Amino acid sequence: MDYKKLINVALDYRNRAYSPYSNFKVGAAVLFESGKIYGGCNVENASFGATNCAERTAIFRGISEGETTIKSIAIVGSLNEYTYPCGICRQVISEFGDESIEVILAKSEDDYIIKDMREVLPGAFKKEALGK
Ligand code: THU
Repeated sequence: MDYKKLINVALDYRNRAYSPYSNFKVGAAVLFESGKIYGGCNVENASFGATNCAERTAIFRGISEGETTIKSIAIVGSLNEYTYPCGICRQVISEFGDESIEVILAKSEDDYIIKDMREVLPGAFKKEALGK
């Protein structure tokens, strides 16, 4: 897996953040099983609760194009510390893959750590609980 490439896509999308309220830019890049990568940024709203995180923007872009399964996701928020996905995004990531999804938290293409979903969302609520 080319982590640098995925992180660079996340960095690129971070520049597209629409975050006039928090001034906190986040970029995400999702590698799907197809091999395609989709980026996303956070998109805020004057009605704060309508804000969409970068991770979900990227995932929903891919799912909308027919992607089904996430292999890896890179996230860049703060450039000084690793930015972890929020609780809602952890749940959305876990919908589209198993515990082996790689979650790459990056400050730059040379400074990153890799987690998997076992660590990021242990005991996730999954479709099996609904008999699916
Ligand atoms: N944000 C993300 O885009 N992803 C996260 O995982 C954490 C939070 C965004 C939402 C909001 O635009 C800003 O960061 C501050 O919460």
